[in-house]
Amino acid sequence: MDKLLIEGGIPLVGRVPVSGAKNAALPLLMATIVAPGEHRLANLPELADVESMLSLLGRIGCPSLLGPIVRVDTSRVAWCEAPYDLVRKMRASVLALGPLLARCGEAHVSLPGGCAIGVRPIDQHLRGLEALGCTFRMEGGYVHGKVSKLKGAEIYLDMPTVTGTENILMAAVLAEGHTLISNAAAEPEVEELGAFLNSLGAKIEGAGTATIRIEGVTSLAPPPRPWHILPDRIEAGTYLVAAAITGGDITCENARAKDLVAVLAVLERAGCTVERGEDYIRVSRTGPVHPVNITTAPHPGFPTDMQAQLMALLSLTGGDSQIRETIFENRFMHVAELLRLGAHIDVNGNLATVHGVPEMRGATVMATDLRASASLVLAGLAAKGRTEILRIYHLDRGYEHLAEKLRAVGANVKRAEEGRPG
Ligand code: EPU
Repeated sequence: MDKLLIEGGIPLVGRVPVSGAKNAALPLLMATIVAPGEHRLANLPELADVESMLSLLGRIGCPSLLGPIVRVDTSRVAWCEAPYDLVRKMRASVLALGPLLARCGEAHVSLPGGCAIGVRPIDQHLRGLEALGCTFRMEGGYVHGKVSKLKGAEIYLDMPTVTGTENILMAAVLAEGHTLISNAAAEPEVEELGAFLNSLGAKIEGAGTATIRIEGVTSLAPPPRPWHILPDRIEAGTYLVAAAITGGDITCENARAKDLVAVLAVLERAGCTVERGEDYIRVSRTGPVHPVNITTAPHPGFPTDMQAQLMALLSLTGGDSQIRETIFENRFMHVAELLRLGAHIDVNGNLATVHGVPEMRGATVMATDLRASASLVLAGLAAKGRTEILRIYHLDRGYEHLAEKLRAVGANVKRAEEGRPG
């Protein structure tokens, strides 16, 4: 297992190319199931989660060919199962449910269970799919779904779940008649999935808003041109915080400011200068970091996937910041590790009070989930001395070529095998 070694305290300056979005790539790969044929996807990030999704496609009988344009052949689906060994590695495998039901009339998907950031139930996915005519039975840790004919329905989600909205969307495109999803997730990745499905011949309006209307069609087919996956807003946001926390100046190329409105506003309030370009975002900081209060919320609110990174930044202010996490009940796993680096944070339920400290100091810390790991990298970049981050396989799930990209903007970062001095 690898670890990351960081010598901190260097202001990072330069340009970072942003990769394709993990959370758009995963549903898009599953959406290829609903349109038999050869799909071509460009800008697919090289990530462990994308590999797992391609393995899942392979398991159900849909081979893929890697390259700058990834090809996935969904002409034939031989099995309708997402087995435990894959779902265990990546919860997003639950996205197989909607497309398999739409394509095969059945699906057997291992239940994802809990994870480091919370319980993460899928009741809304199942209720939405039931409204479309599916029936489910739980047995042996699996959810077994069946449907003879998908029928359009009015679906209200109790909360705007991202993968829940995506699962329902991927089934509703092939349902007979009209489907309305209210209180849908409005994340840019849902909008991207809607646009991709439309390129396959679906009739979806409103993806990327709270109300999505779908007119079912009888069949879908791969589009003539490769689909170019949108840039990863969370990856971009993470590098912009790297500029902020090190007092540097980073331009994220191929980044969309419109997807990061809440994050950029917080960075400005924290004392950074933000430049929003057509296809780039630049963040720099010369003065002190100011305390800011943050509450995570569904899009366009402040994204939970940036909460840990901002906590690292707000650890280095001259005052107190409050961070309220409203999406996941257990997403403060990074706090204990930030404390090891010298941060001063109190947690009370879903509220963290970050008492700013003048500096952090390098230490050995443990990555617990993807975004928690990102916050430790950021803290390590700002801390004096050497930080060792263990269990960085979490980072490989969501940040493409992280060490290389950081080195290109001047960071002293390297990977080494755990157990070796490095
Ligand atoms: N929820 C339910 N029932 C459901 C579905 C969700 O109670 O049926 C709850 C969850 O427990 C949570 C809230 O609703 O409290 C929102 O969860 P959501 O379903 O939106 O999360 P998700 O779809 O499982 C996606 C991203 C996450 C991101 C969240 C929130 C993907 C593959 N994953 O998860 O990304 O944090 O939306 O924006 O799109 C990450 O990239 O690090 C990551 C965790």
